[in-house]
Amino acid sequence: MKVIVVGTGYVGLVTGACLAEVGTNVVCVDVNEAKINDLKNGILPIYEPGLEEIVHRNYQNGRLSFSTDLAAVIPGAELAFIAVGTPPGEDGSADLKYVLQVAQQIGASMSNYLVVVTKSTVPVGTAVKVNRTIKQALQERDVLIDYDVASNPEFLKEGAAVQDFMKPDRIVVGVNTERAQQVLAQLYHPYVLNGRPIVFMDIASAEMTKYAANAMLATKISFMNDIANLCELTGADVNKVRRGIGSDPRIGDRFIYPGIGYGGSCFPKDVKALVRTGHEYGHNMRILEAVEAVNEDQKKVMFSKIDRHFDHNLQGRTFAIWGLSFKPNTDDMREAPSLVLIEALLQAGAQVRVFDPVAMPEARKELGESVTWCTDLYHAATDADAIVLVTEWNEFRLPDWSRIQSSLKNAVVFDGRNIYDDVTLQKKGFNYYGIGLTA
Ligand code: UGA
Repeated sequence: MKVIVVGTGYVGLVTGACLAEVGTNVVCVDVNEAKINDLKNGILPIYEPGLEEIVHRNYQNGRLSFSTDLAAVIPGAELAFIAVGTPPGEDGSADLKYVLQVAQQIGASMSNYLVVVTKSTVPVGTAVKVNRTIKQALQERDVLIDYDVASNPEFLKEGAAVQDFMKPDRIVVGVNTERAQQVLAQLYHPYVLNGRPIVFMDIASAEMTKYAANAMLATKISFMNDIANLCELTGADVNKVRRGIGSDPRIGDRFIYPGIGYGGSCFPKDVKALVRTGHEYGHNMRILEAVEAVNEDQKKVMFSKIDRHFDHNLQGRTFAIWGLSFKPNTDDMREAPSLVLIEALLQAGAQVRVFDPVAMPEARKELGESVTWCTDLYHAATDADAIVLVTEWNEFRLPDWSRIQSSLKNAVVFDGRNIYDDVTLQKKGFNYYGIGLTA
C-alpha cells in the first residue's frame, strides 16, 4: 500500500513514520523545502521520544521517503492523509486554508481511486469542504476519477506520541462508503491486533469526537484547578481529594492533577474552536467557556502566591524557573504557562533564571535575552530568592535539597505541579507552596 502524508508537523511526521514502521510505503510531503532536506539528512523538526530512530530506520530501508512535490507523488497512492496545520483565526475558529489548498492539489494531480483522509483536527463539516474542493479540481481537469473522503482524528499525546500511535486506545474513523472503510481497516489492522477497536462512524461524528475528547480532558483539568483553589480557601488538601475521588472508576484517577493551567497546541485551540462552533450554530458552550476562563486565571495563580510571599515587592528579586515546556518530554512552548509566569515576574521587576532539559532553544525564540539561561537546575537556583517548579520533568523530582538550600538566598519552593512532599520540604526548612494545599 502506498500512502501519502501531507504535512510533516507533529501529527504528520509521527503518522508517516509509524505507518512505515509496520511495512506501509509512505511519502511525507511538505512545502517547506528546508524541513524536507533536514529530514532527508536525519534532522527532525521536533523532539519526540523514539521518533528519530523510527524515521532513520524507515528512511534507510526505503519505506519512508520525503518530498516537496505533492503532484509528483500522488499518482499510484491509495491513501492521502492531510495533516497540515489549522491555526486558530482571530475569532478562535480553525483556519482551513492549508487543508483546502492540499485538497485542491490532490484533486489536481490524482490519477486513480484514492481515499483522502483529514488527520488534522478540523471542525465538523470540514470533510464536506474537502470533498467539494476535490470535486471542483477534478471538474476543472474534466476527468472522472473515483475517490472518497474520510476523517481519522488522532489522539496522540506529545512526549508519548510513538507509543500512542503504535498501541492506540482506539482508532476513530469516519467514512461514508464501504470501500473507504475497507482501505482504512486494512491500513490499521496491524495496530489493533491487541484487541483495541477501530471505531467506524459517520464523518461528522468522527470530526466531533476529536473535539469532544479534548474538551472533556480540558474540562477535567479546569475542574480540578477550580477545586484546588477552593481547597486552599477551605483548608482542604487537593492531593487527598484527588485520591478520594479518583478511586471511583466512574471518575477515574487520570487527568485530574491540578497545576498551573493546561497549555500546548491542542487544548487551548480546540476548546476555543468548539466554543466558536457553538456560536456558529447559535448554541453557547457554557461549560467550555468556563473551562477556558478558569484556565486563563490558573496560569496566574503561581505569580499571585509568589507576589504575596514577598509582600508585593519583587523588584530586584531573582527566581529560578525549573521547566519551560508546557509539559515534560517535549520541547513544545506553545501556550506554555511558563511564559505567562515569566512575563509577570519580569514586569514586576524580578530577574529570572531558567533551566529546561530540552525546551531552551525553543523558549529562547520567545524570551530572547530577557532571562538568564542556565546549564542545570542547580545553576538556575544559584543566588535565587525562590525556586518555581513549572514543568514536572523527571530530573526535577529528586534534587539534592541541601545543595539547593546552600545556593538559594531564601529557602522557598513554589511547586506548580505538586510533585514535592510538603512535609519533607518543610522539615528541611523550606517554605513550600503547592497548588490546592493548605499553606
Ligand atoms: C492532548 C491530548 O491528551 C491528546 O489525546 C490529543 O491527541 C492531543 O492533545 C491533540 O489534540 O493533538 P497534549 O496536548 O500533547 O495532548 O498534552 P496532554 O498530555 O494532554 O497535556 C495537556 C496539558 O494539560 C498540559 O499542559 C498538562 O500539563 C496539562 N495537564 C494534564 C494537567 O494540568 N493536569 C492533568 O491531570 C493532565
